[in-house]
Amino acid sequence: MVIYLHGDLGAGKTTLVRGILNALGYNGRVKSPTYTLLEPYQIGDLQLRHFDLYRFNSPEEWESAGLDDEIDGENIFLIEWPERAPGCLPPADIAVRFTILDEGRELKIDAYSHLGEQCLTRW
Ligand SMILES: Nc1ncnc2c1ncn2[C@@H]1O[C@H](COP(=O)(O)OP(=O)(O)O)[C@@H](O)[C@H]1O
Ligand SMILES: [Mg+2]
Repeated sequence: MVIYLHGDLGAGKTTLVRGILNALGYNGRVKSPTYTLLEPYQIGDLQLRHFDLYRFNSPEEWESAGLDDEIDGENIFLIEWPERAPGCLPPADIAVRFTILDEGRELKIDAYSHLGEQCLTRW
């Protein structure tokens, strides 16, 4: 499952990931992977990978960080700034687009695969 999170700095992408992890039962600290690119989480049987590619520079960086190894068909990906790594990422099952409003945020959520559609129709 691959979820792209699109939106400006401060739009609430990391906050949403924190909320998802907490809702799944994770009680630890959820820090932004701004400098590490990737923070891994295991919750029960679920393996989650939280990416923040804001500081990502080149496809070579993807390879050298071993990030291809994370695409194993089992991991759940939550990816901030996916547009910074064109050609590197697996395609999105779901994309969330954040817009900052005067009060709060607006989220547009789209599915791009059967898996993504199944997920959205269960909400
Ligand atoms: N839905 C929301 N409504 C109001 N403030 C929010 C919302 N989501 C996040 N924030 C606030 O905006 C700030 C930045 O959020 P963050 O999740 O780090 O943004 P991003 O990861 O998109 O850069 C935080 O102080 C957070 O508390
Ligand atoms: Mg963030």
